[in-house]
Amino acid sequence: MIRIGIDYYPEHWDCSLWEEDAARMEALGVHVVRIGEFAWSRLEPRDGVFDFTWLDDAIGVLARHNMKIILGTPTNCAPMWLYHSHPDTLQWGPDGRPTGTGLRGHRCMTSFTFRKYAARIITELAKRYAGRPEIFAWQLDNELESNHCTCPSCQTAFRGWLKEKYGTLDALNKTWGSEVWSGEISGWDQIVPPQGTENKPDWYNPAYMLDYERFAAASLTDFVKFQCGIIRGYDPQAVITTNACFPRHMPDFHQEFAPLDVASYDNYPPVRLPEDPEELYSNAFALDFVRGFKNQNFWILEQLGGPMGCWAPISPAMEPGMLEGYALQAAAHGADLISFFRWRTSYTGAEMFCHGLLDHSNVPNRRLTELEQLCRRLEKLPELGNTTVHSQVAMLYSADQEFTLKNQEQGQGFSYWKQMRLFHDACMNLGVNVDVVEERTPLDGYKVVIVPTHFITDPDVVARLEDFTRRGGSVVVTCRSGVKDKNGNCILGQELPTLFRALCGCRVTEYDAIGPATQELTLERGGRYQITGWCDLIEPDTAQVLARYQGRFYSGVPAITKNAFGSGCAYYVGAVGERALYCTLLLTVFREQGIPVSRLPQGVELTVRSGPSGTYQFYFNNTAHSHDVEADGQKVHLQPFEMKIRTQGAWA
Ligand code: GLA
Ligand code: ZN
Repeated sequence: MIRIGIDYYPEHWDCSLWEEDAARMEALGVHVVRIGEFAWSRLEPRDGVFDFTWLDDAIGVLARHNMKIILGTPTNCAPMWLYHSHPDTLQWGPDGRPTGTGLRGHRCMTSFTFRKYAARIITELAKRYAGRPEIFAWQLDNELESNHCTCPSCQTAFRGWLKEKYGTLDALNKTWGSEVWSGEISGWDQIVPPQGTENKPDWYNPAYMLDYERFAAASLTDFVKFQCGIIRGYDPQAVITTNACFPRHMPDFHQEFAPLDVASYDNYPPVRLPEDPEELYSNAFALDFVRGFKNQNFWILEQLGGPMGCWAPISPAMEPGMLEGYALQAAAHGADLISFFRWRTSYTGAEMFCHGLLDHSNVPNRRLTELEQLCRRLEKLPELGNTTVHSQVAMLYSADQEFTLKNQEQGQGFSYWKQMRLFHDACMNLGVNVDVVEERTPLDGYKVVIVPTHFITDPDVVARLEDFTRRGGSVVVTCRSGVKDKNGNCILGQELPTLFRALCGCRVTEYDAIGPATQELTLERGGRYQITGWCDLIEPDTAQVLARYQGRFYSGVPAITKNAFGSGCAYYVGAVGERALYCTLLLTVFREQGIPVSRLPQGVELTVRSGPSGTYQFYFNNTAHSHDVEADGQKVHLQPFEMKIRTQGAWA
């Protein structure tokens, strides 16, 4: 069963509303309620004075209406009294000063004092609620970011992490190449987190920045483990997760979720669709990415429930079908629980125009009707929850690539994410499932592996890709692969793509970081495509030329190649192109590997979940226009944002 949930803030409402709210949720077909993640000041109004009566009551009311509870640890927002009496619990900003209070998330994760108070409130919660039948799972904190706090405690933690990694300053200086700009470090306390980097991270030593990002991610993981440890101390069987988003300071998600039981994500697909047909807006990539955190089905802890607002101007109203369609899109990619943000729009506080399912009026509306329809529909598919997404195609990702490319842009607008999304978009459009996996994930069972910009080059990953190809797989490698070693320094004395040269059978003689300017390429078999961002000028060793540039001083020079390697082959894509190029390219690759493809209109996505209980094909029209598609030889009409599900030869 796919569970539908609601994000609820009992502390925002008069308790006289709880009963009615819970009854309405139950009648709609909701099974789960997420509560508590920001409620510290209500749970511990004064230092050491706890009040759980209201939470007991709220859980009691919800449980009487058959709701299972996902309980949040409230560490995202410490109470004001804590910051006031212990300023060392405050996060420091990139300017090297304590941040002001009044927003949220401004606690320091390493602060000894903060940990002490956090441990106490989590312990109190765990003592009281862990193991109780109403508690379905725990959510740690809220939308955790990697730890970029610059306070004295975090400075010490950063130095400790480096000491552990390098042992000596000599080793550290050598690895970082600190001689550049007289950056050599002669005492550990000279090392500080990057300060003032908000606008110019690329001015710092990239090797140091990479280590800093790795530290910041590890520091977050440590915070996650700290919280898990307390809860598991009271209930070893507790199901623990946290709600990921893609924040400014990206965590190393695979590391962060390793100690957790299930990956979760806050899914806010766009309410306003872009006008530019080249802009990739589908959240399908994010969903497949999150499934890859633990290579298993995942949860949505916040699902778009109304027009967005507050952090940005209020968005347009949700189109009819959007609420249901977007939720089913998440299910199609492996979400087993989908909890909507939020029940009723807040009437106070910063998010009073960040709309929930209900408006301030509390009157039933179009969004609630759609939610009910969604619940009824899923009730008819009880076996869907026992299925998973099986893919023959993998796309490699790693936090190291993300960390490095974010801080050192390769040409104006060159984006690691954009490349991943372009390939992913093509997979959706061809109706082919794809797993986005950590780059060290075993490749057995896949037929095609897409490697977008393997910038920080791991020789083990290259060896594994060679082995995969030798045994008959197809690999697609793109530009800016093989550039750096694991320390974040450039690989010396070899032509690009360095370690990938044998596999790809080609070398890059020169590159042109064209940024937002456009270039063109033509495929040898016909077809002309626009490219932007990057052009590698390729010289094949053994590879066959698939495409050549048309324009600038390198007209006719190879842009895309294919190299036979063992029983498989490796494609090298030297440029970043328009959407259609990726469909054309992957169509060839998939056909070669015998992977069945569908030709769908742009914006229509086909995903498949399967298991012993059957196969479910999800046809999702992720556009504002209706489309006709063909499924099993039948013509199917899809309204805007409509999801049609086909199982056992029938439409559900
Ligand atoms: C995030 C947060 C929520 C809320 C929503 C509003 O996802 O986790 O608390 O602020 O955004 O969109
Ligand atoms: Zn700190």
